[in-house]
Amino acid sequence: MRMLWAAALLIPAALGILAQNEPGAVLKYPLPDALVSSDGKPVRDAQTWRKNRRPEIMRLFADQVFGETPSARPEVHFRVTSTDDHALNGLAVRKQITVYFSQQETGPRMRLLLYSPAKSRGRAPVFIGLNFFGNETVNADPEIDLPEVWIKGQKAPAQESARGGNAQQWQVEKVLSRGFALATAYCGDIEPDFAGGMEFGVRQLFLRPGRSKPADSAWGTLGAWAWGLSRAVDYLQTDPDVDAKKIALIGHSRLGKASLWSAAQDTRFSVVISNESGVGGASLYRAAAAETIEHLNTAFPHWFCVNFHQYTGHPDRVPVDGNLLLSLIAPRPLYVASAELDHSSGPPAEFLSAVEASKVYELLGKRGLGTDKQPPLNQPILTGTVAYHVRDGKHDVTAFDWDQYLAFAELQFGRQ
Ligand code: GCU
Repeated sequence: MRMLWAAALLIPAALGILAQNEPGAVLKYPLPDALVSSDGKPVRDAQTWRKNRRPEIMRLFADQVFGETPSARPEVHFRVTSTDDHALNGLAVRKQITVYFSQQETGPRMRLLLYSPAKSRGRAPVFIGLNFFGNETVNADPEIDLPEVWIKGQKAPAQESARGGNAQQWQVEKVLSRGFALATAYCGDIEPDFAGGMEFGVRQLFLRPGRSKPADSAWGTLGAWAWGLSRAVDYLQTDPDVDAKKIALIGHSRLGKASLWSAAQDTRFSVVISNESGVGGASLYRAAAAETIEHLNTAFPHWFCVNFHQYTGHPDRVPVDGNLLLSLIAPRPLYVASAELDHSSGPPAEFLSAVEASKVYELLGKRGLGTDKQPPLNQPILTGTVAYHVRDGKHDVTAFDWDQYLAFAELQFGRQ
């Protein structure tokens, strides 16, 4: 496979970043090039991208990184358990929906919380994202159900005191007042986030008879979360309050990794937002300064497929990287966001990844980022189909971040 040689040799974008911010190189090793196939042949047209290179990259991520998602058609069904037309002081219609992952109602299930703007004329475009700690944490709304959540590997009823604990990361009122709906579900409903959590999640529904563990190339927890997001879309397509042709997927951090993989597999996500998804997401395994594969595989051995563990200590051997994951979103609008102090994600590597993915957007007739110079803090680049910002502060989702995502979604979907 031909690679792009290190920053100083072949990637002017990296030079730009170096000149502005970084003393060292952005890359430790050359990156795989989205537009060069594994057999070394350049990809020069959209058809070759769609027919050959994109499927090849999809296969590599499925075999070597996230693991394969089962192809069996899921037997999902839904039940709307509550509707309130006057939620949040009349700002929203609130629905709570249980998404059952099998015909039975006893197995794993996901609770979806959907707010849509009460004053919406017709169907509203919708932001969707998984949350880390339970639906009740996204807003102080006292009517959000308090089902069980996972704490340190144990299931326990969610506490009243958890309500709104993560509200600033969701900005529900702001999103609604701009005319968007917001749908969210707790990642732990799909599979709890610990090694051994598989027993309690959807992956066990798909184990072949006689197997107690998935195969080496089968999905890990990130793959399960990605699958769960698609099941939420299955529901949204049935809901009369939302426009399922205008779905913006937002994912933060580990849930950003899962979201990018979900959007790679499911083109019903029409806008995709990576909020500090870091290594395994928008960032680069080959980054000079960011989280290592070793750390990912040690601290979170359940996230990726078993095959991915062979790359611990060998980032240069992974046949793909974050730039290729981003290129799988093309030509759909993509926003990559970093935070200055999020050293584990590596802002310069996230930026370089977006620059590299822009080549695929351009091949497909879209404007990518349109620059290879990392912008100053808090100055978003919003002019192309690929957008980017690095804001000041730490690893988080802030009101500033949401302001940019709302502006981007309005540009892409039209103002509501
Ligand atoms: C850890 C992990 C990161 C991840 C982050 C998060 O820091 O190492 O890869 O993105 O958790 O999900 O908050």
